[in-house]
Amino acid sequence: MSDTPTNVVESRASTGSFTGQTPYSAWMQTDALHSLQRTVSDHPGEHAWITHVQVSELYWMLIIKEIRTAQGFLRADNLRQAYRTLLRVVAHQEPLQAIWRSIDWMTPTDLLAILSRAVATYGKDTALQGWTYRQMVYLLGIKQPQHLEHFKPQPQRWAQLNQALSEPSLYDDVLACFSRIGMNVPKALLERDLSAPYTPSKEVEKLWRDIYADPDGNVELQQLGETLADIAEGFSQWKHRHLMATRRTFGARPAYFGTEGVAWLVPTMDEIPFPELWSARTFIGDPPPVCPHMAGRRS
Ligand code: HEM
Repeated sequence: MSDTPTNVVESRASTGSFTGQTPYSAWMQTDALHSLQRTVSDHPGEHAWITHVQVSELYWMLIIKEIRTAQGFLRADNLRQAYRTLLRVVAHQEPLQAIWRSIDWMTPTDLLAILSRAVATYGKDTALQGWTYRQMVYLLGIKQPQHLEHFKPQPQRWAQLNQALSEPSLYDDVLACFSRIGMNVPKALLERDLSAPYTPSKEVEKLWRDIYADPDGNVELQQLGETLADIAEGFSQWKHRHLMATRRTFGARPAYFGTEGVAWLVPTMDEIPFPELWSARTFIGDPPPVCPHMAGRRS
């Protein structure tokens, strides 16, 4: 099973015409696409819920594909094309944030009317069983092996995620590329067990600090750093929208694990990709000794 199907359609000349289709419907697979919303309730808002989640799934997969493309460029030391590809990831994160608006109308009564029917139809579930999101998170370098357990009922997806866990993340490829172009990335970090959670390194923090030390030097690397920061921020913004939607529709109810759902989610807000890119900022730039907004109020 491929996680990134690329069903390249053979040309019409070799396969005959697409009977009963227009070129648009054949290419965009609109009949198949619109057959995919199977409601479980008679709540009129369930279509909005399913559309929101399915569109999110599509964008997560798109982001996975883009990150893998960027990794290919990084492995070829082509920083410029890696940067261009990662700009597209930043762009794709925008619709992921925006579509939360289309389910903000939900009250707890609305959500529970739909979820109770989903549980009755398919059994108790958790969104942690979504493999696309988890694969994206692994590619962003947040390697948490404990989440694999949710995929035991889907052995092929379990195997796919287990492999993704042990493969280089985007950040691993950035650091490996930095090492190849002569920067001081610790050898032990490059050769570590990639399936284990990442431990931030002082040497990598210093490396980012040095990249930003001269605003006019290392421009290409600074642009890459800022694009990674945009991606990390987009990821955190999605988590914030999700957390607020949970507060709004679920309150302090216990969720899948029996613990309060919000209490489970809040600590995950600190899971921010590319940690040294953030921690290095404490040491970048000539400091005003306090917050710049306070400067005028001193003396
Ligand atoms: C608005 C109603 C929603 C509520 C009340 C809610 C609740 C929760 C809760 C409590 C968790 C923690 C794990 C658990 O206990 O199951 C969770 C995780 C998650 N949910 Fe939702 N959720 C909502 C909507 C959504 C939607 C619409 C999506 C997808 C577009 C989604 C995707 C996820 C993902 C990916 C996780 C894992 C987060 C992580 O690992 O940090 N959720 N959700």
